[in-house]
Amino acid sequence: MQDKLLDLLTDTNSYPYVFMYGSDGRGGLWKSRNVPAKYSENFLESLPIAADNPVAYATVEKYVKSVLQYVQDKKIGLFFFSKPCPENKFGTGTGKTTAAITILNHYLLERLRQHLKGEQSIKDNPVYFCKSTDLQTAFNAQFRGTPDMQKVASERYYAIKNRAKCVELLVFDDIATKASTESFTEELYEIIDHRASAELATIYTSNMTMDAVAELLGDRIASRIEGSTVPVAFAGRDHRKKVL
Ligand SMILES: Nc1ncnc2c1ncn2[C@@H]1O[C@H](COP(=O)(O)OP(=O)(O)OP(=O)(O)O)[C@@H](O)[C@H]1O
Ligand SMILES: [Mg+2]
Repeated sequence: MQDKLLDLLTDTNSYPYVFMYGSDGRGGLWKSRNVPAKYSENFLESLPIAADNPVAYATVEKYVKSVLQYVQDKKIGLFFFSKPCPENKFGTGTGKTTAAITILNHYLLERLRQHLKGEQSIKDNPVYFCKSTDLQTAFNAQFRGTPDMQKVASERYYAIKNRAKCVELLVFDDIATKASTESFTEELYEIIDHRASAELATIYTSNMTMDAVAELLGDRIASRIEGSTVPVAFAGRDHRKKVL
């Protein structure tokens, strides 16, 4: 099926291209999603999880096919977690982050389509990728260095936190790591509570089950994640590990 939007996005002089990628092709909405380069071009067509995780694949496919409805009307998020097995004790490298960013990318494309049709304009970027450990590093930076450095770090942290709280669709990656301190857990609570109360869709990824999330981050956080998402398990080998 021919997609006029995708055609326009290959024309570097078109308004959609410049809005999406910036005039030099390296900015725009695509850049400010904050997605790491190696996941940048993840789409359903290239999602590699179907064989190892058919149920997760079917869920992502279903969500992507009606992504505007799931985010804007049904307001349903997802909780992608690892199901460890003897060959992969921590459930790493099973495609959770890949699948989450796939949805984020499709949502941004569909939002651009809405914007161009004049249905719902885009003011701020509607999507954001936030890795929990990066958020914690930004949080901790506020308490290090000279007062000037702390001020800059504080402004940066609050800008990140505000985006994580308010964006239409957030991918909150690798939540619930053992390094979470009490004060940072309180920050996580504030973001997660705001998103759950405002019914903003969030895709969480974690190597922990919901029970383990509750143990690490407390029941208040776990119950808000549980109440605002559908859980999706990821199993199988670690695809980061090379095999001959
Ligand atoms: N089922 C799969 N088949 C082939 N490649 C895969 C599969 N799952 C993941 N990959 C690849 O493995 C790499 C790691 O995937 P990803 O980062 O999405 O895993 P993850 O589950 O988020 O891992 P972690 O728990 O460590 O965060 C990526 O390059 C991804 O494309
Ligand atoms: Mg991951």
